[in-house]
Amino acid sequence: MCPAMARTIRSAVAVLGAGSQGRRLAYMWSSRGKDVHLIDAAPRQLTASVEAVQKFRAESKASDGFGTIRTHAPSALAEALQDSWLVVECVPERLSLKQQVMSELDGLAPEDTIIASNSSSYSCKEILDGLELRHSTRVLSAHTYWPPETTVIEIMGHDNTDPSLVEVMMMRCAEHGFSPFHVRTDSMGYIYNRIWAAIKREALLAASEGAGTPQEIDSIFRGVLQTAKGPFELMDIVGLDVVLDIEQHYAAARGDIPMQPQQYLSRFVQKGHLGVKSGQGFYTYSDLASA
Ligand SMILES: NC(=O)c1ccc[n+]([C@@H]2O[C@H](COP(=O)([O-])OP(=O)(O)OC[C@H]3O[C@@H](n4cnc5c(N)ncnc54)[C@H](O)[C@@H]3O)[C@@H](O)[C@H]2O)c1
Repeated sequence: MCPAMARTIRSAVAVLGAGSQGRRLAYMWSSRGKDVHLIDAAPRQLTASVEAVQKFRAESKASDGFGTIRTHAPSALAEALQDSWLVVECVPERLSLKQQVMSELDGLAPEDTIIASNSSSYSCKEILDGLELRHSTRVLSAHTYWPPETTVIEIMGHDNTDPSLVEVMMMRCAEHGFSPFHVRTDSMGYIYNRIWAAIKREALLAASEGAGTPQEIDSIFRGVLQTAKGPFELMDIVGLDVVLDIEQHYAAARGDIPMQPQQYLSRFVQKGHLGVKSGQGFYTYSDLASA
């Protein structure tokens, strides 16, 4: 059977990592009736994800019927991949972990299964660097923001990604309620994220210098740009540990990144103040609306 035909027959999507993003992807990829395999090393993340998906569904206007979310420990990964046309890795933003997971997925997934990385700052080209994969042409990046509220997804291949798979992703993402954009070059931070990285960095620098508090900076930002949230509110939603990992990666990859934003962020992370997910970040969570 040719890969394209096999991909059509495989109807599920597998999501590896059931954290902030994984649960949102589980909702999106199951929102048009197809099943999702959700795999995580932490059972409590799987339980929380199923609850989150139920909440998204209760709030959703989609009425086509939802697919089933099947949760698994990593030991069941190989089995979960057998009926998946796509697997998306959504594990924490650490290159060594991404590379380990990529090798594992390439070894276990059927030849025609597309392997996507949701990494915010490591391009699939960077993840593949030094790896010997069986089928690297089926690897691409598929980076989301905050679905279902923000449906943008950026699809970016590496030098040897099969272009037809980019087309498949663009089409199927649109069918599942995403707004897909093709990033045509290898771009660290895709298109939007590199712009957002600069905004975060400068906001953190201003706060670290004492020019304004996070609350004041958010108020100015909202007032001038007429946005619903400011950069500190948004960083709290993303997770300050994730923001720090991403900033450290930009600093390692480029020579022009100041240290103060990372040092300022580290003080919050060391105290366990990770943002919304820990109940405390730049804001204390019930206070967000009144900040
Ligand atoms: N948070 C965001 O807004 C956001 C947006 C877009 C992309 N991303 C990217 O998505 C990825 C995940 O981010 P997140 O915010 O969802 O992280 P998270 O920390 O909320 O979740 C990561 C999950 O991966 C699980 N995990 C860790 N190692 C694993 C393994 N070996 N096998 C299976 N599960 C494992 C953890 O238990 C956890 O549930 C990162 O690459 C990040 O850059 C995040």
